[in-house]
Amino acid sequence: MRVALLISGSGSNMVALARSMTGAHPARPVLVVSNRPGAGGLDKAAAMGIGTACVDHRAYDGRAPFEEALDAELRRASPDLICLAGFMRILTPDFVSRWEGKMLNIHPSLLPAYPGLDTHGRAIAAGDRVAGCSVHRVTAELDAGPVLGQAVVPVVAGDTSDTLAARVLRAEHRLYPEVLRRVAGDGPLPVTLR
Ligand code: GRF
Repeated sequence: MRVALLISGSGSNMVALARSMTGAHPARPVLVVSNRPGAGGLDKAAAMGIGTACVDHRAYDGRAPFEEALDAELRRASPDLICLAGFMRILTPDFVSRWEGKMLNIHPSLLPAYPGLDTHGRAIAAGDRVAGCSVHRVTAELDAGPVLGQAVVPVVAGDTSDTLAARVLRAEHRLYPEVLRRVAGDGPLPVTLR
């Protein structure tokens, strides 16, 4: 299984996924694309021997031309699966429909709670005792596709958005590879990690 990964930043989820795709694992990373030229994940991917590309969204006059360029890069790599890993651009329904059923995303909340941004701040403000992350299939509606896996972490007294984000990020690095393993190997889904 050929896996392309889309990033916007440090790429820690991309690294966790790429490191998991070894040995008997049926998937291999074939391309890492960033929408930001300076994304730290690009260097990390190159150091791991993974092909990289940058499609800078600021270089295009609108979503459609950006997505055309992104689509062209992806088609060149012909992935069987696309993992959004810290990818911070909203994809249009037209783009999603071209890759329907082949795109996963990780979101730092226990969906359906807290779609969108500032998930940790909202969980803390609500007094939630638990938080976590979700891997879901990407559909036209933002952060709303079928959930394939979740990891649950405690919210600790005194947590700030940053301390909770760090705890959730560590859980993301466990959850995303586990979901990918099951998607690639037809393992049982959904999966919940605690
Ligand atoms: C993190 O906030 C994570 O919760 C979300 O994307 C951001 C960056 O992740 N999934 P990464 O280090 O670029 O994978």
